[in-house]
Amino acid sequence: MKFFLDTADLDEIKEAASWGALAGVTTNPTLYSRIGGKLDDFHNHIARICEIVDGPVSAESVAMTRDEIIRDGRELAKIAPNVVVKIPTMVEGLAACRALSDEGIRVNMTLCFSVPQAILAARAGARYISPFVGRFDDISEDGLSQLGDVVTAIGNYDYSESTANGEQVEIIAASIRSANHVTQSALMGADIATVPFNVLKKMVQHPLTDRGLESFLKDWEKVANA
Ligand code: E4P
Repeated sequence: MKFFLDTADLDEIKEAASWGALAGVTTNPTLYSRIGGKLDDFHNHIARICEIVDGPVSAESVAMTRDEIIRDGRELAKIAPNVVVKIPTMVEGLAACRALSDEGIRVNMTLCFSVPQAILAARAGARYISPFVGRFDDISEDGLSQLGDVVTAIGNYDYSESTANGEQVEIIAASIRSANHVTQSALMGADIATVPFNVLKKMVQHPLTDRGLESFLKDWEKVANA
């Protein structure tokens, strides 16, 4: 499984990248607004993220018609070679995905909540599909089981002929709220988990690691003083 960081915060991205396990970044309009992002600085901000991270960096279009999304997508793709255009799973989004993918531009279909939506996205040439886990949990439904269904359904077929460059579609477990979400997503075979920085920090922690380290350090002190 690969890890993307789900944030627009440059300090978080730099810190996570320094850990050596970061494969990419996903942003969305909410995450950009959370860092006080300005409309006219959006492209520059995505460029700054791409300077830190070599892997895929998802930048979302907020346009609502296919022509506008395609226009947006072409502009976003010009920012850096690793930009992935993030598009909501809706009719206009599917049409734009097909057009952009045919031009060799990678697309991440977001706000995906069902197997039929995921299959349509894969057929429309999506390079990444992002089923949301936590938002199902928010409405008292089982987000992990929905994710598992998408992973299985997409894995049953080969969609590589749908993308312009013949790449395999990858499933990004999104809207991740806990380290357990990551564990379960990996067990289900999701290709990628995009995690907020607070979850990434929790992933590295274990009380037995802390306890073990404490006793090793104490015993080493005995060795040093012997
Ligand atoms: C995915 O790419 C989205 O940016 C993100 O995972 C949404 O998470 P949320 O439901 O916590 O807002």
